[in-house]
Amino acid sequence: MPAEEGKSQTMKKALATTIRNAGFEDAGAIYTLIKEHPREVVPRAISDIVQNIDRFLVCEERGRIIGTAAWQILPEIGKALNPSVEIKSVSIGGHYQHRGIGSALVKAVIKRIERFHPAQIVVLTFTPEFFRQFGFHEVAKETLMHKLYMGCINCTKYDSPFTCPEVAMVRKCRMQNAES
Ligand SMILES: CC(C)(COP(=O)(O)OP(=O)(O)OC[C@H]1O[C@@H](n2cnc3c(N)ncnc32)[C@H](O)[C@@H]1OP(=O)(O)O)[C@@H](O)C(=O)NCCC(=O)NCCS
Repeated sequence: MPAEEGKSQTMKKALATTIRNAGFEDAGAIYTLIKEHPREVVPRAISDIVQNIDRFLVCEERGRIIGTAAWQILPEIGKALNPSVEIKSVSIGGHYQHRGIGSALVKAVIKRIERFHPAQIVVLTFTPEFFRQFGFHEVAKETLMHKLYMGCINCTKYDSPFTCPEVAMVRKCRMQNAES
């Protein structure tokens, strides 16, 4: 059984709560959860969620999807010299916040991403304090130009990613180098 499945020990009062890979049947619930947080989380079309369903984890409690988190591999030119994976779409339902579910999901996503041996995990967030607990530290947005070109370039909320109040953060990983 994959590590992210099964009952998470880190949740505070989450009896019968499971973190698992998402399936197509979860797409509608994921869409609704993301839409609940339009200020903090970039909205995603349901077709985008369906097409990327293999990059979502969900938290389920008694048959209800109460949290989600996703990831996206950022582009590299040529060989993957500094492979970066972005954590995105982290959304916990309003009634279910502050129960350890966000922490459990982010830890599970990190574990999942680390299987690919990235050099770093990236997040753009309004809640840097939350992500600091998992080893993320603030970096200048200019160091994440591939992220800015992938997503921020199409943002309609701010005229430039550099005026957007979201904080760029990175968690360095131990990268395995096949050529060393
Ligand atoms: C931010 C969010 C993911 C946290 O999930 P959660 O399940 O509520 O968080 P947890 O219970 O695991 O929090 C553990 C600790 O993280 C910190 N924390 C949680 N939410 C926080 C926030 N919004 N700001 C700063 N720190 C926060 C607190 O120290 C918290 O401990 P406490 O509950 O004893 O105060 C969730 O509140 C959410 O979905 N918010 C709206 C969307 C969002 O901001 N997503 C992140 C986009 S990058």
